[in-house]
Amino acid sequence: TKQKLWGGRFTGKTDPLMHAFNQSLKYDQRMHDADIRGSIAYAKALTLVGILTKEEEVKITEGLLTVGEEWKAGTFKPEADDEDIHTANERRLSELIGPLGGKLHTGRSRNDQVATDMRLWLLDEVADIESGLKGLIRVMVERADNERDILMPGYTHLQRGQPIRWSHLLLSHAFSFRNDLERLQQLIPRVSVLPLGSGALAGNPFGVDREFLARELGFASVAENSMWGVGDRDFIVEFLMWSSLTMTHMSRLAEDLIIYSTAEFGFVTLSDAYSTGSSIMPQKKNPDSLELLRGKSGRIFGNMAGFMMTLKGLPSTYNKDLQEDKEPLFDAVDHTSASLKIAEGVIATMEVHGDKMRAALTMDVLATDLADYLVRKGIPFRETHHISGRAVALAESRKCQLDNLTLEDYQGLHEKFSEDVLQVFDFEASVERRTAIGGPSRKTLERQISVLRAALAK
Ligand code: ARG
Repeated sequence: TKQKLWGGRFTGKTDPLMHAFNQSLKYDQRMHDADIRGSIAYAKALTLVGILTKEEEVKITEGLLTVGEEWKAGTFKPEADDEDIHTANERRLSELIGPLGGKLHTGRSRNDQVATDMRLWLLDEVADIESGLKGLIRVMVERADNERDILMPGYTHLQRGQPIRWSHLLLSHAFSFRNDLERLQQLIPRVSVLPLGSGALAGNPFGVDREFLARELGFASVAENSMWGVGDRDFIVEFLMWSSLTMTHMSRLAEDLIIYSTAEFGFVTLSDAYSTGSSIMPQKKNPDSLELLRGKSGRIFGNMAGFMMTLKGLPSTYNKDLQEDKEPLFDAVDHTSASLKIAEGVIATMEVHGDKMRAALTMDVLATDLADYLVRKGIPFRETHHISGRAVALAESRKCQLDNLTLEDYQGLHEKFSEDVLQVFDFEASVERRTAIGGPSRKTLERQISVLRAALAK
């Protein structure tokens, strides 16, 4: 049997269970491309300091490209002793080009190699996720732009509160995602730090040019401390925190739409493309897409909390515990990026029932406006709040709406009520009065849309 990469000092065999326990190739093979790119850059750096001749570098590079092609074509054949993607690629390289393959790892450790691969891999994924997030925000903005005529009740405590535009609600979620977009963009420079050239822990003894390596691989900066370079996984925690918060927003958006899609509300209907049926109740159309979006948030938090538990208490530099960074990160990337695409599809294709939203507007949601009416006549708000509350109680006792009370009824509550009180009972007018920045009026909605469009352009 072949020798293990680190087999020199060993005489005994690895326990078979331990062998499987230790092996990460099953899941870390998805970094094959990052691993090959890192190695090609490292071969160049070795050439620059005279460890490899140009000819050797070319042979190694061609070999690495072939290994990479094999992964892409699905023809790479893992061997039982391939512990992880790094050993698998090196083993295959040496099969292809002979003992020269053994020069590539000069001054390098899997410790700086794996940290480099993870960062390279994540940078690609983050770019993808950024465009997924923008796609979601974009459909929300488009809908909000097209559906600004639709009025609905805005809720607090899930009780009808004040009239708003449907677009205003939709954009409230879009603003959460806008902040997620900003945060994602802000974490990129902290991912884009090159560990390669840190060696096992104590740096590189052959003087490789790490700034050259960073440029070759597209990193924004170089890890300034080799021990930190190999031991740091904060960039993974930060991404896990980012995805946890983003999925919290996703979950709250999903919850609103789940409630609005019930027959009792009837505000939205999900398209068939994002719904599923019941195996027993033929009439059912369930919002499974939204429930999964809400549900996925739990597993993402779990990835974050779990990996932080792994990190706390680790001694400096590399410890094998760090191999446990991969599955939570991969899982968070996969499920967050799928969630963004599903959410975009749900929002783009759902039907919005403006008539139902409008019908849910009862006059009581104008009770605040009624209080404001008296405020405009000089009465302190604390008093007008009380008077409006008595009007609500009176209407309730008569089983009628606020606009069914007579002028005499109102004047009985306060002498400052006059004919023009009727103008209060207009939902559109209520919304249009809210022209302060952040409000649901047409003008301020316009402003929200342009702020979001500007964020999408960044
Ligand atoms: N598969 C390992 C990981 O993912 C690579 C680094 C191994 N380094 C070591 N010294 N054992 O963390």
